[in-house]
Amino acid sequence: MEIISLQTKHTTYQMGVTEHGFLVHLYYGKKVDCNMDYLMTAYDRGFSMNPYDAGDDRTVSADVLPLEYPCYGNGDFRTPAFNIKSSSGVLGCDLRFRSMSRSSGKYSIPGLPAVYAENAEAKTVEILLQDESAGVEVILKYGILTELDVITRSAVIKNTGKQPLFLEKAYSGNLDFLCGDYDVLHFYGRHGMERNCERHTVIHGIQSYGSRRGMSSHQHNPFVILAGRGTNEDDGSCYGVSLLYSGNFNCEVEKDQYQQIRFGIGIHSELFSYPLQPGNIFYTPEAACAYTSDGLGALSRIFHHLIRSHICRGIWQKIPRPVLINNWEATYLDFTGDKIVGIAEKAAALGVEMMVLDDGWFGDRDSDDRALGDWTVNEKKLGGTLQSLSKRIHDMGMKFGLWIEPEMINENSRLYREHPDWALVIPGRKPVRGRNQLVLDYSRREIVDYIFERISEVLDSAQIEYIKMDMNRGLSDLFSASLQYQNAGKTMHDYVLGVYHFLERLISRYPNLLIEGCAGGGGRFDAGMLYYTPQIWCSDDTDAIERIRIQHGTSFGYPISAVGSHVSAVPNEQTGRVTDIHTRAVVAMAGSFGYELDLNLLSKVEMEAIKKQIQDFKRYWHLIHNGDYYRLTTPGIDTEVAAWNFTAQDQSEALLNIVSLDTHCNSPVTYVKCKGLDGNAHYQLEGTSQLISGNALMEIGIPVPIVSGEYHAWQMHFIRL
Ligand code: GLA
Repeated sequence: MEIISLQTKHTTYQMGVTEHGFLVHLYYGKKVDCNMDYLMTAYDRGFSMNPYDAGDDRTVSADVLPLEYPCYGNGDFRTPAFNIKSSSGVLGCDLRFRSMSRSSGKYSIPGLPAVYAENAEAKTVEILLQDESAGVEVILKYGILTELDVITRSAVIKNTGKQPLFLEKAYSGNLDFLCGDYDVLHFYGRHGMERNCERHTVIHGIQSYGSRRGMSSHQHNPFVILAGRGTNEDDGSCYGVSLLYSGNFNCEVEKDQYQQIRFGIGIHSELFSYPLQPGNIFYTPEAACAYTSDGLGALSRIFHHLIRSHICRGIWQKIPRPVLINNWEATYLDFTGDKIVGIAEKAAALGVEMMVLDDGWFGDRDSDDRALGDWTVNEKKLGGTLQSLSKRIHDMGMKFGLWIEPEMINENSRLYREHPDWALVIPGRKPVRGRNQLVLDYSRREIVDYIFERISEVLDSAQIEYIKMDMNRGLSDLFSASLQYQNAGKTMHDYVLGVYHFLERLISRYPNLLIEGCAGGGGRFDAGMLYYTPQIWCSDDTDAIERIRIQHGTSFGYPISAVGSHVSAVPNEQTGRVTDIHTRAVVAMAGSFGYELDLNLLSKVEMEAIKKQIQDFKRYWHLIHNGDYYRLTTPGIDTEVAAWNFTAQDQSEALLNIVSLDTHCNSPVTYVKCKGLDGNAHYQLEGTSQLISGNALMEIGIPVPIVSGEYHAWQMHFIRL
């Protein structure tokens, strides 16, 4: 069998070409240096059919082969990664291997986010599959980031025939496993409670996690883990797959009749039917895959590193971002320029570095049923131009940021009155509304470009260093006035391409702008968005205790530097819970730190606390954003405390964070064990003369003080001697 091996530092990914030209997946896991085709077996399997070219040999069947990019139409009846429909309605094809090539460097994908690397850091492998009679060619692309143990996948599909065809399914990647007992860890949620980690056994049939909402969604996240049954935080095999895509997606996990596992991810095949004219090419989004035998914590750290160094771009990728204050929870839409300046003045005195003006500064946006689409400054409300407001903020030594929601339109807006056909609306039918708004048809470039120009005029009119780019509803009413015939499946994907086009234009024209993604909090928190926006508002739920769960789930696939997190007022706006300002800050520091409350309402003691928090965050920034992150507890399982620590990559220091969750009479003591320290070294607890060995901190841990009441927090900084 012809063998194709992809090697990273600690992993091997191996494929083979069978005598009939099927590209099979032989192995993905811990590094090996032998051919893995010995794993293949061949039996005559009842009711699994045979390809014509196998002649009398009934032991060959696509239905049982571990296929690298399974398609519908060749006798494989498991869930395919690929399916086409011809213009006359014929479904399916039979992809066979044609050729393979290797090159140095990492490929990129036109119009879509992709992992990038220096030429010396990465290799690319391309495998050509073809079905001549169906008139289709698929190039499977693999990017190999050797040191990081990451393999990326994407596919390029070409219509080589004479008739148009429709892509009915085109996943980014697929992993077939011949055997193994696996669990899936996936991240489900809702608005205000995103990315809860759920783990369950892979059972017979198909389990799927995806979105049909036009955005990656609050409900499911395009990052999924397949883990060995016994795998835990610190030990065991696990595979992580992160899809760099911000629209509809699906991840399917299937256990078949012979206990083989299939794991595929890509654009959701429902609401997808993409027309491809003869000669035309379709690029799938990219999926980044990693394997480790060192447990879930190590897997997360691979993705943290990947996103920080090979997905996020721009000047803010690795440098400290300004500690900000956002006025949303302080004022909602009810503010004036003076009120904003008042908040900024207080904040500047405490060390806050940027004032962000949220929703409500444009058109006649005094309530959320109007003005989206009218990107002109409401000078009456601000009491002057945006430039004069921005200048007043800058005169205090602060940067200035602005909220936008460029993909949306209100029916009550000048833009809608002028261009009602720019919204996604089905003629003759009343549209579905979300937060009183409709969605602009971003599948049409002229609309994207119009909005880009309006937003650019605003950005050019004042000194603006930051944008919070929001998106507050999903897509429905899929009728694009530009199409000759209606095709919801095309509109859904082209919409995402339009959003990426907007963002690419924005970062090229304003390379120093810091952009924070947002979609009603964390409804579009995915690795695709992080290619354009190095941080994303993690959730509209700012309650510190709820945030512990949300940020814990988020940390499986995304680095702390990506997590927008703020200290807000108490009782908390979303839950009514009261927590101490120190606790709120400890939790918000596990992210891109900021504040979102009216400082005029705080006590002197709280103001002093904020001053110190900002100093602490800056002192610990290198650990928090560029160090290694370790989960020490699991929400829901560890009910007494939540804990996590950051460790310098050279293990010279660590920052331990603990929050107490419960309180009891005459309580037993809880001990928290650190991770990732140098076991043979001694660490000094900052502010004390206490020396503790790294092994002691990791093996027995340290006692959590017993204090009356719940929700106390501690931050302990350990420095290696
Ligand atoms: C969304 C965001 C909030 C805020 C509002 C403004 O809900 O997640 O942070 O910006 O919109 O309308």
